Amino acid sequence: MSQTGNVLETIRTRRTIKTFKPDPVARELLQELLNAASWAPNHRMTEPWQVLFVGPETRAKLHHKTDFGGAPVLLAILCEPGKTEIDQEEHYAAVACFITNFMLAAWEKGIGTGWSSLAASQHVRELLGVQEGTKVVGLLPVGYPAEVPSPKERTPMEQKIKYLP
Ligand SMILES: Cc1cc2nc3c(=O)[nH]c(=O)nc-3n(C[C@H](O)[C@H](O)[C@H](O)COP(=O)(O)O)c2cc1C
Repeated sequence: MSQTGNVLETIRTRRTIKTFKPDPVARELLQELLNAASWAPNHRMTEPWQVLFVGPETRAKLHHKTDFGGAPVLLAILCEPGKTEIDQEEHYAAVACFITNFMLAAWEKGIGTGWSSLAASQHVRELLGVQEGTKVVGLLPVGYPAEVPSPKERTPMEQKIKYLP
């Protein structure tokens, strides 16, 4: 767990958390993390993200096989529609930045997060009451980690970088 105030260390040590302690996360802390996330870059200040706190009744209907590792909080992060294809792409990218900010801010405070692609299914969209055109970019379980998995090693960046003349 990071809690060093060192952004590089926070980025490097953050892990996707699969099992959570049942301990609640204070609403003020969640608010602080979401406020931090909202400083994400976004073109023309569209701030295209929306956040749903998924309550127990709705969550029970999601029928997720692991119940999100017992996380006490489940967020759905939505992306508002854009008028053009480029707008849509930029909105999606901005929301991904928002989510990453949230995950890193959370890790810095000792809070673990996950990112479930279950978000994309029509079943989930209907349950969350998401409007046509709005995307569900991630379902994020949030809570104090019960276990922190070992890092999945990354491909050395030398293999991913090209220098153009
Ligand atoms: C768009 C997106 C969708 C993801 N969906 C899932 C998912 O459905 N289930 C899951 O266990 N992890 C999911 N992840 C998390 C990745 O599996 C995880 O980030 C990766 O294994 C690297 O592990 P780390 O985050 O601990 O470094 C998703 C991540 C992203 C960015």
